[in-house]
Amino acid sequence: MKSELIIHNAQLVTCTSNGKPKRRAEMRDVGLIKNGAVAVAGGKIISVGKSEEVLREFESENTIDANERVVSPGFVECHTHIVFAGNRLNEFELKIKGADYLEILQNGGGIISTVRQTREASLADLIEQSRKRLDKMLSLGVTTAEVKTGYGLDTATEFKMLEAILELDGFHPIELLPTFLPAHAVPPEFEGKSDEYVDLICGEMLPKLRDFRDFVYIDVDRVNFDYTKNKPFFVDVFCERNAFDLEQSRKVLETAKNLGFKLKAHVDEFTNLGGARMAIELGATSIDHLDAISSPEIALLAESETIGVVTPTVNFNFGSAEFADARKFIDAGCAVALSTDYNPGSAPCPSLPNAMAIACRYQKLLPSEAFNAATVNAAFAVAQGEKIGSLEAGKQADILIFDTKDFREIAYEFGGNLIETVIKQGEFIN
Ligand code: NIG
Ligand code: FE
Repeated sequence: MKSELIIHNAQLVTCTSNGKPKRRAEMRDVGLIKNGAVAVAGGKIISVGKSEEVLREFESENTIDANERVVSPGFVECHTHIVFAGNRLNEFELKIKGADYLEILQNGGGIISTVRQTREASLADLIEQSRKRLDKMLSLGVTTAEVKTGYGLDTATEFKMLEAILELDGFHPIELLPTFLPAHAVPPEFEGKSDEYVDLICGEMLPKLRDFRDFVYIDVDRVNFDYTKNKPFFVDVFCERNAFDLEQSRKVLETAKNLGFKLKAHVDEFTNLGGARMAIELGATSIDHLDAISSPEIALLAESETIGVVTPTVNFNFGSAEFADARKFIDAGCAVALSTDYNPGSAPCPSLPNAMAIACRYQKLLPSEAFNAATVNAAFAVAQGEKIGSLEAGKQADILIFDTKDFREIAYEFGGNLIETVIKQGEFIN
């Protein structure tokens, strides 16, 4: 049979998962096939197996000998805030001198400082600044990324951010999945009136988002790419002291759920307000951060379909010695995914391999666990587990070739880049 591309003689890290996110011992199994091969046709994987078997069944004019190097699924970045304007370099220095993240936020800095810069930026400027961040992520192996709004905090700017995400998705090789996050911080014009801001989100922004979603889904030409109903649309909330309390967070997520959106929640980054239980009970696709999650909530997460996303780059960025207890989460049976949380404040980090390196050292994940957490489980954290995240026949041909023969080196080395080739839907990108 004909194939458009065959990569053979590879250390194939398949991350195969039988249609479910990986848990417990499965997380230590990366589905390694020595001297493996993958065959591609029509942007999809059509066969995975031992080289001799795949080469016996398929032929291609484009056959690549991987020379025993590691070949894996593209990384899935399941939590980012990469659409923003400017930077937070002043805050970086304040933090070095001892300032606290939530204090900076309360004093009108932090997220609000990025909101000011993002409100002022034109759509074109916002897209150009964000494109550069996506380019870095691509060179580091990301082939699909979730991207949040949340630096607008007014209807017009939240939708400007959404336009930026959809336009970037239209031309950038990384496939983007949008998340609407107006409940990221209370904007200055609503200071002391956070309930009123929540009313604006639930009464105006979310219904408008539903109309926008339905319009985009129908009018495919408008965004110039095949934006189908298969693509998930998330609504997220920052449930935290100085941001949104439990009841406000519940109101946002319940309203979004009733309008047909999938849910995500930033919970327990600093303070446990009960957001994990609330979001799991509402059926959130993922809950993210989890530094302050309690033992009963970990047990609840383990029994649920919700993915627990850890972002150790944030703790590293704060110079903290404490990390979310991802070891405990995995041992308790939670499906754990890993993300950089790439954003201008708490994690200006484009590198998922760096997040893996930190997770191994400080959260005591094995390289195999970190690898599954950044591929197949991250795919489930963005409701794309059927489509991406592993090398399996029928899945999208998002494939990485590394300059190493042992996948563990990808978490062992840090600060570098072992990616040699990125293939997105069967096309060579870089
Ligand atoms: O995931 N916690 C809230 N949101 C981001 C930080 C955003 C920012 O500081 O700009 C986070 O850490
Ligand atoms: Fe975040």
